[in-house]
Amino acid sequence: MSGSTVITGIGELVTNDDELGVLSGAALVLDGERVAWVGPAGLAPAADRRVDVAGRAALPGWVDSHTHLVFAGDRGVEFAARMAGTPYSAGGIATTVRATRAAGDEQLRATVRRLVGEAAAQGTTCLETKTGYGLTVADEERCARIAAACVDEVTFLGAHVVPPGADPDSYIDLVCGEMLDAVAPFARWIDVFCERGAFDEDASRAVLLAGVACGLTPRVHGNQLGHGPGVRLAVELGAASVDHCCYLTAADVDALAGSGTVATLLPACDLSTRGPLPDARALLDAGVRVALATNCNPGSSYTTSMAFCVATAVLQLRMTVEEAVRAATLGGAQALSRSDVGILRPGARADVHILDAPSVAHLAYRPGVPLTWAVWRAGTPVPRP
Ligand code: NIG
Repeated sequence: MSGSTVITGIGELVTNDDELGVLSGAALVLDGERVAWVGPAGLAPAADRRVDVAGRAALPGWVDSHTHLVFAGDRGVEFAARMAGTPYSAGGIATTVRATRAAGDEQLRATVRRLVGEAAAQGTTCLETKTGYGLTVADEERCARIAAACVDEVTFLGAHVVPPGADPDSYIDLVCGEMLDAVAPFARWIDVFCERGAFDEDASRAVLLAGVACGLTPRVHGNQLGHGPGVRLAVELGAASVDHCCYLTAADVDALAGSGTVATLLPACDLSTRGPLPDARALLDAGVRVALATNCNPGSSYTTSMAFCVATAVLQLRMTVEEAVRAATLGGAQALSRSDVGILRPGARADVHILDAPSVAHLAYRPGVPLTWAVWRAGTPVPRP
């Protein structure tokens, strides 16, 4: 949006900037795509437009650093069976792979756009998504191309599962060779599902190193379904993030604390799979950097609601409101190695989320209530649904 906008009358402003902190009676000036000024409302400079938010709370837009939006089909029946006692397994991924392969580009693009729009209307202004439901060279390439046109960050997850009927060793060679070459132009990240029933430590290392050799940066799905090597491998390879982290040993927590790798927690997935919730307190108390994300996908976590994840983190993971809001904004930015989002300070991308509430505590204090009042992404108002 051209010109400048001053947002004034902010009751509580969470900046995530250590110098600015949390301000009351604040204002923000957005100029073009960037934040131009942050401070007390009484000192705000003039701007082309003025929006008075009448005491409402403001925070950076959510940074959802883990989703799987390029898919077709619906797994509501599998979800209902799980709620009736059938355990979650990675096997359901094959159902979505079949539906995704059968879908046309336009159908896949429409699904991604619908979910990105749904997320934006709830305050998500920066979003990562993964491939991983194509699992052929052509299907992974088109999923990455579609994702790159619709979201901020794209991750190659050819190593999601070995597709039905494929030989595991040959499939890993394909992922590390022809498939990687086809997808790399559209992706910044390489990921692997390092888990029992998916890829073991050696295969995961091979996939991540192949991605690194091709210019991609690693992130890891790990320690979701049981104890395992995911965290250790992520730290060893300097991954930006290791995601899930439901089964951690003390050594895993120590390794994360001494590393630059972010632990990304996905509580909506844990509830939807009836898995154990991660020990967020152990991670935070050890000084680990934590992110919260939705893991939106049709199997294990079909939600775009970062507010739900924040409320769950506070009510069930024993995170404070401040920790949860920071993890869903700045933590997500750190998990994506970005310094321009998840923060409100001069120069940052003008991604602003206004709540219809006087403080961010209401996100957990009023769980399940849609509190988004207004959203700007890169300085442009996001249309209300
Ligand atoms: O993060 N871990 C692998 N991928 C997804 C599950 C996807 C599915 O079940 O379709 C996850 O939970």
